[in-house]
Amino acid sequence: MVFDWVARLLHWLMALLLIIMFLFGMQMEELTLAERREALPMHASMGLLLLLLALFRLFWRRRYPPPPYPDSMGPGQRKWAKGVVHAFYLLMILLPIAGFLHAASYVDFEIHAFGIWNLTALLPSGELLTGVFHVIHGSCAWLLIILAIGHAGATLKHAFIDRDEIPARMLPFLRKSK
Ligand code: HEM
Ligand code: HEM
Repeated sequence: MVFDWVARLLHWLMALLLIIMFLFGMQMEELTLAERREALPMHASMGLLLLLLALFRLFWRRRYPPPPYPDSMGPGQRKWAKGVVHAFYLLMILLPIAGFLHAASYVDFEIHAFGIWNLTALLPSGELLTGVFHVIHGSCAWLLIILAIGHAGATLKHAFIDRDEIPARMLPFLRKSK
């Protein structure tokens, strides 16, 4: 059994966009104030779209639950796998919310999402407040990327050591013919 095509599309689209957004965010730290003024609204708009995608993905998952794990997976392995999935969903929601609050309390300039929505008008701007959200946002981004690296490593283990059907659940073209 494999994930349905909507779940697969959302998985790969969001994985790609989250990695691009992480690199974008890291790069932004190197920019001058004028360059950041150009880049941040794009980062914020794309991040808010990712928040909507994460919420839609959660809704889709509740409506169309994932296929059951293969019998070859023991209870310990299932518990780990479920824990990682929960952590991913939590981070995919917390990360953009922390970014949103960071933008809402930004001090250097106003940040408009989608060219029209002034996020910076939503909270009082302040160095301390925006600094706290900056740290939470950055930490969530790092946690997500570290988790994704471990998760990709686990997929390789399933593919080459366990040789089970887990990788094919997200990449059905890998399915072995019987
Ligand atoms: C969901 C995907 C997102 C990812 C992966 C992401 C990633 C990052 C990363 C890695 C940084 C650099 C943090 C650091 O080095 O401490 C950053 C900075 C930032 N992000 Fe995001 N972000 C996302 C969404 C958002 C959203 C939705 C907003 C606002 C609505 C936002 C606003 C910001 C702001 C204001 C900064 C600080 C920029 C600066 O002053 O240098 N981010 N982001
Ligand atoms: C930022 C990057 C990524 C994120 C946030 C992410 C997130 C997730 C989540 C949340 C699930 C569980 C889906 C659900 O049960 O609703 C999942 C499943 C899966 N992911 Fe990723 N993923 C990422 C990158 C990758 C990469 C790079 C690979 C492969 C090298 C991969 C391979 C898989 C596979 C095979 C599954 C199915 C696991 C199962 O059958 O339970 N993912 N991923």
